[in-house]
Order: sequence, then C-alpha cells, then structure tokens
Amino acid sequence: MTAFQKVAVLGAGNVGGSLAQRLAEMDLAREVVLVDIIDGLPQGKALDIQESAPIIGFSTQVTGSLALEAIRDSDFVIETAGLARKPGMSRSDLLTKNADILRGHAAAVKSYAPNAVVLIVTNPVDVMTYWFRRVCGLPAAHVFGESGTLDTARFRTFVALELGVAPRDVTSFVLGTHGDTMVPILSLSSVSGVPLSRLLSIDQMAAIVKRTQQGGAEIVNLLKTGSAYFAPSAAQAELARAVGRDEKRLLPVTAHLRGEYGLQDLCIGVPAVLGRGGVEKVVEVDLTPAERAAFDASAQAVRDDLQVLAALPV
Ligand code: LAC
Repeated sequence: MTAFQKVAVLGAGNVGGSLAQRLAEMDLAREVVLVDIIDGLPQGKALDIQESAPIIGFSTQVTGSLALEAIRDSDFVIETAGLARKPGMSRSDLLTKNADILRGHAAAVKSYAPNAVVLIVTNPVDVMTYWFRRVCGLPAAHVFGESGTLDTARFRTFVALELGVAPRDVTSFVLGTHGDTMVPILSLSSVSGVPLSRLLSIDQMAAIVKRTQQGGAEIVNLLKTGSAYFAPSAAQAELARAVGRDEKRLLPVTAHLRGEYGLQDLCIGVPAVLGRGGVEKVVEVDLTPAERAAFDASAQAVRDDLQVLAALPV
C-alpha cells in the first residue's frame, strides 16, 4: 500500500542510501528521490536500489538527482545531509557546518514542497530541527527530528541482550537531546508490561543507560570512518511509515515545544503522537524527580547550542 506519492531523501550517504532502500522495500511511496551534490552518487545508489525491485517485489520508483528541484511536490522529506561525526568529535562541533548545508535545503523545501512533513536526521539533530523549521517556516508540527526513536531502539536492544528476551517486547522512552545528556526513562521501561526494575539490578540498568548514551559513539569508534546507519535508517523508516500511514504511533521524537514540559520555543526529544499531520500531539508524562532533573539538564544543553545558532544568518 503506497502511503505517499513522493518521498525525498536529502543526502545519499550511508544513511540516505540505506533509508531509500528501506523505503522502497516497504512500498511506502510511489516515488523515492535521492538527492546529493556528489555527481553519480544519488543516481548510482538509486539505480542500484531500483534494480533490486524485480527480486524484492516493490513498485516504488527510485530516482537520483543532483538538483534540489527534484524534491518538488514531495509529501515527505528526510534530511540526512551533512557531515558525520568523526572519532572524538561531538555533535555540537558539527553545528555550524551543518547549519550552512541545511539552510539551502530548508529554502528548497519552502519553495518546492511547502506541504511536506519533514524529518530531520542531521546532527546535532535537536538544534538542526529547530534551525530547519526556522528557515523553511513550515508549521512546527511538520518538522520533527529522529533522535529518540534511534536511542530507544538501542536501549531496547541492550535490555533484550541482557535479559535474553525478544527485543520487540522491550518498551521504553529515551527523551531529551540526542547527545550525552539523553535521558532513558527507566520508570517508563518494561518488558511486556513487567517493570524493568523488577528484572534488572540498579547496576545493570545504570550500565545500559550509559551504553545507550554513548551508543552513537560506540559505533563511530568501531567503524572509524563514519557513523551508524543501519539502526538509524530503520528508525527513520519507522517514523516515515507512522506519518505516511497515519498510524498515530506514540514514539519519542524531537519536537518543537511551546510550553509542554514547561519549555518554550525549543526542539527536544519527547513522546509524541505521529500521523499524517506530523507531530499531532506532544504527550506530557510524569517523570521522577531525578529523571526530570536530567531532562532539564538536557534541555539546557540544547539551549547552549541554540545560542551558537542565534549568531548565524538565516
Ligand atoms: C548516532 C549518530 C549518528 O547516534 O548520531 O548514531
């Protein structure tokens, strides 16, 4: 069942390429267009994916382009372009460079696809989500960021490995920023409804929290020449499907807050209902005092990055 007419993936690197493949294989859109500035890269990856269609059985048409105009009339745009972190580099180091890249893309969305819902993946994702929305001027509900869905997948994986249970039976929310200050919410974590605190010791939970917080860096350090893309693209595909099929999924995403959680005008990871309207509702949940303090510290980290952004021309 096709949910979208057209999905645009900006950036044909490892994340963009594997995402385009996942989207095609889900038959979520009539057309997926992959856009990049490196001649041959989007065209080559698109054709390669397209040639798998007879075997996999999807009908999606996959094309590649160097021109931003190729995103015209997209219903859904996923921004994956930008520099990836290298070992030792923080997400915030990327801020200024990636803001420059996203400025042009946000202007293109405004011109060519003003009705699109936009998913931001580029790091630092909380800040880039804020920046993209500010430049493109789309409604806040139509521009959201990935982060928490990926971080929660990592947390769920580590819990499943520790307990020897099915990963899909582990539920949790990782909130706050997609950085070292992210907050896995243990009070909302369970295995098929059994609270995590009944299954794992405090030390085991602390180790899983730490590994989740460093989950992106763990992959960067292993790969040495790039960052993660299999789990990120799986998270992005899940979000695309939630929007395209109007699933009303309750997932942790980077959303623009206007008073929710007592925060005004910033983008950060919170639970939200996702449907065809994008972020249709931010869901406020009670956190324990320690979780709330950690969430506030995370919000402060985002504010610090936003200060850097405030100096840049829109
Ligand atoms: C990660 C990087 C890409 O978490 O943010 O894998």
